[in-house]
Amino acid sequence: MQVEPWKGCGAEVRALQLSGCSDPELESLREALASHGLLVFREQELSPDDHLGFARRFGKIVVNKFFPESGAHGEIAEVRKEKEQQTNIGGGWHADHSYDEEPALGSILVARELPPAGGDTKFADLAAAYETLSPGLRKTLESLDAVHSNRHLYGEKGIYRQTDLADQLGGEDRVGDATHPIVIRHPESGRKVLYVNPGHTTRIDGWSVPESRALLDFLFEHVKTSGCTSRLRWEPGSVAFWDNRRTWHMADNDYQGHRRLMHRITLAGGPLRGAIS
Ligand code: SIN
Repeated sequence: MQVEPWKGCGAEVRALQLSGCSDPELESLREALASHGLLVFREQELSPDDHLGFARRFGKIVVNKFFPESGAHGEIAEVRKEKEQQTNIGGGWHADHSYDEEPALGSILVARELPPAGGDTKFADLAAAYETLSPGLRKTLESLDAVHSNRHLYGEKGIYRQTDLADQLGGEDRVGDATHPIVIRHPESGRKVLYVNPGHTTRIDGWSVPESRALLDFLFEHVKTSGCTSRLRWEPGSVAFWDNRRTWHMADNDYQGHRRLMHRITLAGGPLRGAIS
C-alpha cells in the first residue's frame, strides 16, 4: 500500500483493495486518515456488502437522519441526483453532522453511477487552514464556541424542502442544534482544527447574528483561499474516505441532465474537545 499526499487536502492510497485489506493494512489506513484527513482509492471492486463490511471493521455506523436509504442496505445512504433534478445533495461547503452533539467521525463515499463529465467533489483541510491564521486570531478563536444547526436546511421551511430534492428527504421532526468549540483538538492526530463550516454553523455563541456573520464569513473565505483545498475527479471504482472533524467537502452540480448516484456510509464519532480544554 502506498500513500501519495495530494496538494491542498488529502492523499491517494494505491495498491490496496478495501474489500480484502488485512488487519495491519486497516491500522495503516487509520494512521493515514489521521495524517491526511481524506483518503482516495481508485479501481476498487466494492459491492454494497463489501462497503458495509469495510465500514464495520473501521467503526460504528450511523444512519443519516435525512437522506434516503439504499434499498436492502439500510445503513447505506443514497446521495442521488436524477437526470431531471436540478438540485444536488451537499452542493455547498459543509462538514457532515456538525449539528449533532457527537458529530460523525467520517464518511466512506463510493461512486456507483457517474455523469459523463463533472460531478467532482471538492475538499478542504481545516487543520491546515487553522495553521495559516495569525497567532493573535488563533488565540481569540480558541476561547469561542459556535452554534451548528440543520433547521435552515431540513426543517419544515428549510432550504432543501423548497427544492426538487424534497421528495427524497425525511426527518422534518429530527432537526436540531449543537454547540462546539471553534477550535477543536483532533481526537487522533492531536492537531488543532478550525471547526466551523458554511453549511451548518449559524452563529458564534453569545454573539449577535451580524457580529457572527462578519467573523464566520472571514473564516470561510480564508479556508477557500488559503491553498488547503483539493478536487476529486470521480472515476468508476473511486472511493473517498474523509475525516469529518478535519475537512469540509462540497459536490459540484455541473452535470444537469445526467444521473449521479453515490453510496455513503457514515461512521459515528464521539464528543469534541476544545483545543485548550
Ligand atoms: C455529501 O456527502 O455531501 C455528498 C458528496 C458528493 O456527492 O460528492
